[in-house]
Amino acid sequence: MAWPPLSPIELLFSVPCIILFLYYYHHFTSSKNKHSYVPVYFPVVGMMPSLIFNLHNFHVWITKILQVSGFNLLFRGAWFSGMKIFVTCDPLNIQHMFTSNFQNYPKGEEFLEIFDILGDGIFNADADKWRSQRVKAQQLISHSRFRAYVAQLSRERVEKTVLPFLTHAAEKGHTIDLQDVCLRLTFDTTTKLVFGVDPKCLSIELPTVPFARAMDDAMSTLFYRHAMPFVVWKLLRKLNIGPERKLANAWRVMDRFVEETIEQRRAEKKEGKQTEDLPDLLSSYIDDKDVNTVNKFLRDTTVNLMLAGRDTTGSGLSWFFWLLTQNHRVEQKILDELNSLPRSVTSDGMVIFNPDDLAKLVYLHAALSEALRLFPPVPFEHKGVVKTDTLPSGFVVTPEMQVLISTYSMARMEGVWGKDCSEFKPERWISDNGKLKYEPSYKFLSFNTGPRTCLGKDIAYTQLKTAAAVVVYNFSFDAVEGHVIAPKHSIILQMKNGQMVKVKKRNFH
Ligand code: HEM
Repeated sequence: MAWPPLSPIELLFSVPCIILFLYYYHHFTSSKNKHSYVPVYFPVVGMMPSLIFNLHNFHVWITKILQVSGFNLLFRGAWFSGMKIFVTCDPLNIQHMFTSNFQNYPKGEEFLEIFDILGDGIFNADADKWRSQRVKAQQLISHSRFRAYVAQLSRERVEKTVLPFLTHAAEKGHTIDLQDVCLRLTFDTTTKLVFGVDPKCLSIELPTVPFARAMDDAMSTLFYRHAMPFVVWKLLRKLNIGPERKLANAWRVMDRFVEETIEQRRAEKKEGKQTEDLPDLLSSYIDDKDVNTVNKFLRDTTVNLMLAGRDTTGSGLSWFFWLLTQNHRVEQKILDELNSLPRSVTSDGMVIFNPDDLAKLVYLHAALSEALRLFPPVPFEHKGVVKTDTLPSGFVVTPEMQVLISTYSMARMEGVWGKDCSEFKPERWISDNGKLKYEPSYKFLSFNTGPRTCLGKDIAYTQLKTAAAVVVYNFSFDAVEGHVIAPKHSIILQMKNGQMVKVKKRNFH
């Protein structure tokens, strides 16, 4: 029997299939190949097959490669894509790119395109556009009035939303997704800080909040854009299909929420509401005579601040709780430290602490830093290259390359953090005299390093400490047996299956 000839579409699909099959055969049937995760370069498709096979386990895969290749790898995509990504977690390269030769490593055009949903906001800006936004954001975020508001709001949110939610779950014997609780908490807090609006995302009914859902959808699509050749995701965007359709919908939902809130704030200002009544960042921007307050600027600024503060803090908090379920020794040491603090008791018999007292704790700070080191909420950073440059590792980067810095991998390098690098050990942050130990930010990269260091680090620690202390003191969690914890495909390091736990009230009386 003669087979009919293949149509062009069938041909288009069959070539990659054959290549993938060959890759699979070569790689996974070779039992002697103990470095089977190191990408193989194929003609035409480059290293894409390795990426496709390992995408489900992206961070772990990249980490293994960087461990055997001595911190650095040049990833080359399919020939037609022009994709050349230098992947590194070498602290010396990082210090060079983020600080000493900062001007040569902007975010770059490609980053700008991938993160188009952020508009011209601070994350997506370089040079003067970035500098002026940073100066303004720094002024507002570091203002004592705003700091005091963060502390007061963090405490209030925990008391009024987290404690009732966990009490209800404990009394009913419910299994809950603790990550969802953390993300809802930080969504509510950040929306209030940025927009002055309380979306009430964390309440017993666990409502679906369209703005929150839209942000999640946007973040996971941005991850896929990193892994796909430019031409492919741009084509999907043009056709408005697959993940790009999801992103376009999310974009619309986010814009609608922001537009409505800006109009509401402007109306309140017209009614004569004072700054003291509106301590949120949006109101401060609207009031500021130095900044351009057209809606597009306010939209880009607030969306960037939402992204900066919401998922990062929520994800950091949930990995911290997960690490405690695996490390009861650390949990006990945190409880011992909390026992030394003054406390107040709510009408429901729950213990709460003052943020100023929590700020002084050494072990709690060390444990949170250790969680942020092992599970950095921003697991990778992205840089463009302006001029050809030789990195301290000896590698030469050129303008057609992209640089990907794996923060997740950095934490797991013996050459950086020692033989026990993969262990959760808050003690590594405490010096012999019992004080917190300084670690350079090009090594502890979770809050970035150099001129683009995170502006919200102190705010984040205030929120994290307030929630962590109160939750750990009043409740304990048992991880649900068999529940798999693994990173989700997103530009923020979340758990893809959530964190399912049983909640128990502590009996501390
Ligand atoms: C645990 C929580 C947080 C972590 C791990 C974190 C981490 C980071 C990282 C890695 C960057 C650099 C991103 C990049 O340029 O690609 C960054 C930038 C930034 N963060 Fe945070 N962040 C956290 C919380 C916050 C909070 C609560 C705020 C305040 C609303 C904030 C405000 C900012 C801003 C404005 C930038 C841009 C800095 C610039 O480009 O000059 N962050 N953060």
